[in-house]
Amino acid sequence: MRISVIGTGYLGAVHAAGMAELGFDVVGVDIDAAKVESLNQGRMPFYEPNSDPLLDKHVGKGLRFTTDMAEIADADVHFVCVGTPQRKNSLAADMAFVNSSIDAMIPFLKDGSLVVGKSTVPVGTAEKLAERIEVATPESVSVELAWNPEFLREGFAVQDTLHPDRLVFGVNGDNAEGILREVYARAIGDDTPVVVTDLPTAELVKVAANSFLATKISFINAMAEICDVTGADVTALADAIGHDERIGRKFLNAGVGFGGGCLPKDIRAFSARASELGAGQSLAFLNEVDAINLRRREQVVNLVREHLGTLHGRRVAVLGAAFKPDSDDVRDSPALSIAGQLHLAGAQVSVYDPKAMPNAARIFPTLNYADSATEAIADAEAVLHLTEWPEFRELDPAVIGADVANKLMIDGRNLLDRDAYRQAGWTYVGLGRP
Ligand code: UDX
Repeated sequence: MRISVIGTGYLGAVHAAGMAELGFDVVGVDIDAAKVESLNQGRMPFYEPNSDPLLDKHVGKGLRFTTDMAEIADADVHFVCVGTPQRKNSLAADMAFVNSSIDAMIPFLKDGSLVVGKSTVPVGTAEKLAERIEVATPESVSVELAWNPEFLREGFAVQDTLHPDRLVFGVNGDNAEGILREVYARAIGDDTPVVVTDLPTAELVKVAANSFLATKISFINAMAEICDVTGADVTALADAIGHDERIGRKFLNAGVGFGGGCLPKDIRAFSARASELGAGQSLAFLNEVDAINLRRREQVVNLVREHLGTLHGRRVAVLGAAFKPDSDDVRDSPALSIAGQLHLAGAQVSVYDPKAMPNAARIFPTLNYADSATEAIADAEAVLHLTEWPEFRELDPAVIGADVANKLMIDGRNLLDRDAYRQAGWTYVGLGRP
């Protein structure tokens, strides 16, 4: 079976390499020639653990990348993995890349082939796209469309692609389910649950899952706000409620909140779509989830201001720029947003991140980027721990205490050793944690 993957971002590039690992002949297509060149040289255009070896193993053998859509003509299954970012002038998703790739694919779709959407889209999109394909292809060419949402987490993309925790097949034709079962035969053989649905349900599964995760994080962050005004400890609270199997401890880490290319824009697009459908009230709570999340960033800025008296001219070290560790992704990153807000309020901000500095510097070129954590910290009046890279936890508070001008540590992830910092003479400030 031949497979094409349209769009080679964080999702598509790893999916293409994963499909090659499963033994398929794969062509990846992207409009970005620099990305395609990097991929053809066996290098992912972004940092994702374990993905380079996988790419390197298959590229030039069963896997190739191109900017020429005509090369999909041989493929039996086409995965659409292009981005659906937030629109510049609204909360809704921008569907331009999905629409343009479908239009570009149509002339090359052969009879009996299957188009599989993986991008996160507003509910109702798949049915419209199926119609669009049907209208634009000749009568002799029958093409089915299915929706197979992707749940991969950055930092674990290879593992999540090869060993997903569930597979969702949204189908409305006769052949799609069988073809998808063939594509994912290995995972299904390993007992991965398969949920077969109609198209709108499959589209909704993705946004519902992300909305639930975002809600869980904002719930614990709301508890952190209550802990702050009562002197209670949100980490102990999360441990205690997390022991209840119905609740679970995962995604109950309070801190600077969620970011990245999915959760923030997905809850906004979902809420915007519900309003279009006349069901805005059903998802009104997602606006509150978003507001709680954004308040976390403001709170860290306020804490720095309170502790230093003013931000103007103050030297602040920011540890972390990526939206989470094991990623170089700075899209809607709380760490970078806080660094930027401090800078715009007059602070002298020095940022260090093990992987995300080039991306951060592109988005926020006016910040100072240090070559190491110790360089960022040198002479700082406040140190902010905002992305939980393991190397930040390994810093010795006694050693780094000698380099700073003022021993103030604001732990935006509640993960540093509070007692060790206090014993070394630091003022340790957690979020929702005394
Ligand atoms: C998410 C979903 O998990 C994934 O299934 C979907 O396909 C894409 O969106 P990802 O964006 O890679 O994946 O990151 P995730 O690990 O979910 O973390 C999202 C954000 O939540 C990060 O900024 C993280 O720091 C934050 N987070 C997570 C918390 O603040 N607290 C937690 O307890 C967990």
